[in-house]
Amino acid sequence: MLNILPNLTTTLAGKALQSCLMNASGVFCTEKDELLQLVNASSGAVVTKSCTLEYRAGNPSPRYADIPFGSINSMGLPNNGIQYYLNFIDEVEKQSDKLVILSIAGLSHQENIELLKIANQSNALQLIELNLSCPNIAGKPQTGYDFVASRDLLQKAFEVCQKPIGVKLPPYFDMVHFDEMASVLNDFPIAYICCVNSIGNGLVIDKNTDATIIKPKNGFGGVGGLYIKPTALANVNKFYELLPHVDIVGCGGVQNGQDAYEHILCGASMIQIGTTLWQQGISCFARIENELLQILQQKGYTSIKEFKGKLGRI
Ligand code: SIN
Repeated sequence: MLNILPNLTTTLAGKALQSCLMNASGVFCTEKDELLQLVNASSGAVVTKSCTLEYRAGNPSPRYADIPFGSINSMGLPNNGIQYYLNFIDEVEKQSDKLVILSIAGLSHQENIELLKIANQSNALQLIELNLSCPNIAGKPQTGYDFVASRDLLQKAFEVCQKPIGVKLPPYFDMVHFDEMASVLNDFPIAYICCVNSIGNGLVIDKNTDATIIKPKNGFGGVGGLYIKPTALANVNKFYELLPHVDIVGCGGVQNGQDAYEHILCGASMIQIGTTLWQQGISCFARIENELLQILQQKGYTSIKEFKGKLGRI
């Protein structure tokens, strides 16, 4: 019998990609040299740091810390401004087939609309990730938790921008909220949804100082890593059920091939890696890819579409 080797090819927003693994926005994707390494890494696509109209220094340090099962951060959207990332995407398009997604996170709806208008002018840009879920800007709520505001923003976004737009969502914790957000998203031609951003406003204490371990927002920050894997899987799976025609990007708690496999079982077409990339560097893609391929081989699958969304229930 022919032994067909498995592969990790996938499609996202109609684009064929060589691997279902990529970075999560925010990790190793702010500076051009980092982005170039991601372009050359063993991953299927790249997403930039969420950008604003102008350069932002972000929140004061310390603003990121590793913790026993993950990370906490309150970066505050440090980025080089939209034009920096559009220039990078222009350059990459001339030398590589790698899909580079522009992540945007305006500090107001008006700024998001301005960003989308600018992005819409780019010839090279193929796909946008609209971040509705940054928890780290003092005084600014996460848009994804306000269903009316989310609808209003998406309405305007699709009026001013003809490029495909995916959205990065915060984690939801209540069945009613899944339904409400799904009914908003269902009314727009969303290219994909990314579930989930960090769990916002966690608090971690340094046992030696009795103080918080990060400085911004009095120590409150987004929690990532293994802590959030069950929440991420639940969000991927619930939205897979509620939005069967929308591609889902799973993000949260992916440390190894088994974690990635579970995201796909829950319905993810693509997997973003955040905390693990921060902690282990770019080589994590090749390792997780190999581990995932081994699982496919052991289970007799040749592609991820053979088990995507096939989560068993007891
Ligand atoms: C940050 O820059 O504070 C993180 C962005 C995010 O979580 O969306």
